Amino acid sequence: MQHLISMRDLQSSDILKLVSLAEKIEKGKTKPDLSGKILAALFFEPSTRTQLSFETAMKNLGGEVISVVGTASTSITKGETLADTAIVIAQYANAIVMRHSAEGSARYIADLINIPVINAGDGSNQHPSQSLLDVYSIIKTQGRLDNLKIGLVGDLKYGRTVHSLIYAMASFKPTFYFVAPNSLKMPPHFTSELKKMGVKFREHEFIEDVIKDLDILYVTRIQRERFPEIQEYDRVKNIYMITAKMLEKVKPNLKILHPLPRVNEINKDVDETPYAYYFTQAKNGVFMREAILATLLGGKK
Ligand code: CP
Repeated sequence: MQHLISMRDLQSSDILKLVSLAEKIEKGKTKPDLSGKILAALFFEPSTRTQLSFETAMKNLGGEVISVVGTASTSITKGETLADTAIVIAQYANAIVMRHSAEGSARYIADLINIPVINAGDGSNQHPSQSLLDVYSIIKTQGRLDNLKIGLVGDLKYGRTVHSLIYAMASFKPTFYFVAPNSLKMPPHFTSELKKMGVKFREHEFIEDVIKDLDILYVTRIQRERFPEIQEYDRVKNIYMITAKMLEKVKPNLKILHPLPRVNEINKDVDETPYAYYFTQAKNGVFMREAILATLLGGKK
């Protein structure tokens, strides 16, 4: 693995190796050493978890972090291109993690520089480190990855986490249940690829129609920042809310995941149920991001 740009680029063996390393790191069986290495964290769009968990992961392994948040404090405001910015930062750091609104931006800079690039989210396209921590969370809660029934709920049109996760899980024989209003359905280029890969999926409009069958319920925020018109966002913003009452007849092994932040799609009363896993999922991000950094930067044990 030279970069981490899209889940399309990883084989199931790559995913399993990262999961295994994350598990060893979490259990204290190994501690890769990234001392002397510098990670440049470029977050041109807002982030809490991805940025801070990458910084925590790098520091836990003995490395250092330099960061940029937004474009206002950079020379991009003077007209410098993203390409020149990346080429220069590659002289200072051993790896770049970047979040940017433009789809394809991470691949674009990875082709220009000779240090590893981690895509921390490129528009609505991909968020592979999120999917890897999601896979780690799934195996920790279910004890397996194969043959799971996975419901993906909410903004399946603009949500990059679901676009990544379907590729991350595709080779583990899942059945996906896509639950979205008509205007936010999984885009056809993803569903046609799933068909070509022989991955089973069904499309629904109501959570109640599927919730009793699921092993994983993956809830997503409606991505307000991606809507061309705010009126369309207002029409769908409160369309789904999971409540504790809706969980009365679910399978005992069900776990609810959410990449966070949540707005109002999971009611607070769900937090107290045994199905809520989203805060532990966020914690798992540190172990998985340590595994990703160690893999890309060749950290010694
Ligand atoms: N899950 C996730 O990407 O969260 P942040 O936007 O806070 O990084």
